[in-house]
Amino acid sequence: MKTQSLKFESKTYLITGATSGMGRAVAKAFANEGANLILSGRNEIAGNELVDELGDHAIFLSGDVSDPAYNQKLVDLAVTKYGQLDGISANAGRLGLGSITDLSPMEWHRTLDVNLTSIFYLLKAALPVLQKSSQASITINSSIAGFKSFPNHPAYCASKAGLIALAKQAAVDYAPKVRVNCICPGPVDTPLIHDSAKAFPDPAKAVENAGNNTLIQRLGKPKDIANLVLFLASKEASWITGSVYTIDGGIMAKG
Ligand SMILES: NC(=O)c1ccc[n+]([C@@H]2O[C@H](COP(=O)([O-])OP(=O)(O)OC[C@H]3O[C@@H](n4cnc5c(N)ncnc54)[C@H](O)[C@@H]3O)[C@@H](O)[C@H]2O)c1
Repeated sequence: MKTQSLKFESKTYLITGATSGMGRAVAKAFANEGANLILSGRNEIAGNELVDELGDHAIFLSGDVSDPAYNQKLVDLAVTKYGQLDGISANAGRLGLGSITDLSPMEWHRTLDVNLTSIFYLLKAALPVLQKSSQASITINSSIAGFKSFPNHPAYCASKAGLIALAKQAAVDYAPKVRVNCICPGPVDTPLIHDSAKAFPDPAKAVENAGNNTLIQRLGKPKDIANLVLFLASKEASWITGSVYTIDGGIMAKG
């Protein structure tokens, strides 16, 4: 009987926000396809548990993505442990809730630092290494909040819009060696959406409505997002770069 080869065997991927939600689903999906993984997150216990679950080909390094030195360490780890880096799935993010008049400048800067400036640091560290790969790809997790507003999410929406522009810029500047794409999820069932719903008068109802408002009439699952991230990293996506994918159960189509 012919054995099926794993899609990402001998490839190395760096995943941020890997200890929960979408990042965790992406990590599991890459591991199932044989990839070596560098996992980034802040929660040491959750990170070590994930490594135990994924097996020998995963390393976790805790840190804050808004620190440029930490981003460099993640890339260096890929090179020292696996000799290469073939792709990135960037998922770390925070909400920084509050209206423009209520939000402190500190909270504004923190949200922009974690969501947007962190990607500048990560790309700066990773692009020289990624350019040596024969299948280099970066998938940046933005949001439909990069296109539309949500009550009391000014810093989040601004940072997510910035990511769309940054992804396109990186795609243009590093083609054809490195493909860079942006994904813009709608409401996905992760800890973040439950925090986001706190900006609404009835948070539980807001989460329920978010799912019901999609054309598919449910919240997204982290696995739905992982499926797209793996496709964009694959050889089958070799002509796709500088693209922005909404993956939102159809919310944006409703206008
Ligand atoms: N859940 C949704 O509905 C939704 C929709 C659109 C986009 N997104 C985006 O998807 C990405 C993943 O979020 P999620 O929904 O899986 O939620 P999540 O809360 O499960 O994941 C966010 C991750 O980012 C990590 N993180 C936050 N600040 C960090 C920092 N300073 N340094 C290192 N790591 C940090 C958290 O520890 C967490 O693991 C985020 O960028 C989020 O903005 C989420």
